[in-house]
Amino acid sequence: MSRLAIVAAMPEELQTVLDAIPDEAPRQHGGRTLWCGHWQGHEVVAVLSGIGKVAAATTTATLLSTFEIDAVLFTGVAGGLGDGVQVGDVVVATELLQHDLDASPLFPRFEIPGRGVSRLATDAALSQAVAQAATQALATRGPALAGLCTPRVHQGLIVSGDRFVSSASESTALRQALPDALAVEMEGAALAQVCHDFGVPFAVVRTISDRADDTAHVDFGRFIDEVARHVALDIVQGTLDQL
Ligand code: ADE
Repeated sequence: MSRLAIVAAMPEELQTVLDAIPDEAPRQHGGRTLWCGHWQGHEVVAVLSGIGKVAAATTTATLLSTFEIDAVLFTGVAGGLGDGVQVGDVVVATELLQHDLDASPLFPRFEIPGRGVSRLATDAALSQAVAQAATQALATRGPALAGLCTPRVHQGLIVSGDRFVSSASESTALRQALPDALAVEMEGAALAQVCHDFGVPFAVVRTISDRADDTAHVDFGRFIDEVARHVALDIVQGTLDQL
């Protein structure tokens, strides 16, 4: 039996996941509550990452030091950056980068010092399973996403930084610096670095809550309540079905 860790960014999403785990039991470690249980024949450990790169990195390190984990799935929301990445769409990361990491002139902008790379790849097989689950989730939930046009699944680069991107000028600057970035959030690349350190396969999936522009904060709140938690549940469930 494989053991999957589910890391959620928002309490609402974690609660939806916990509601689906009939025997969840809490274990405290490193200031985190790690919820252990079973879901669809798999051992699972669910945990709230909190917001930001430090919270995500410490949560992931605590998780992977406490349990034997076969794979990590991070679920959350993000701001859309890429052309055609709209509110309600889902982005599955193929690679992640810290957009606020800049140790130049010692190292090139975005490069992780000592690693010689700026982008960290996700596990291809797990990410493919997540993308398939997301496609199915949107086919089921899509019609219920009132006011949104037909949502789509995208796969590619997600960028992370310790900023909620909430102005058109900031998202334009990100698009110029990283033209292939599909979405921006605040945790994924930090989790990626820790998973790489531990040699544990991982995937990151994000539902788009806003366009990282001047109305991002308004769209974000509404979206979390109405959509994100349901889509996240379907995606995790659909991924577990394929493992
Ligand atoms: N998560 C969701 N929307 C975001 C945004 N606009 N910036 C950073 N993280 C986000």
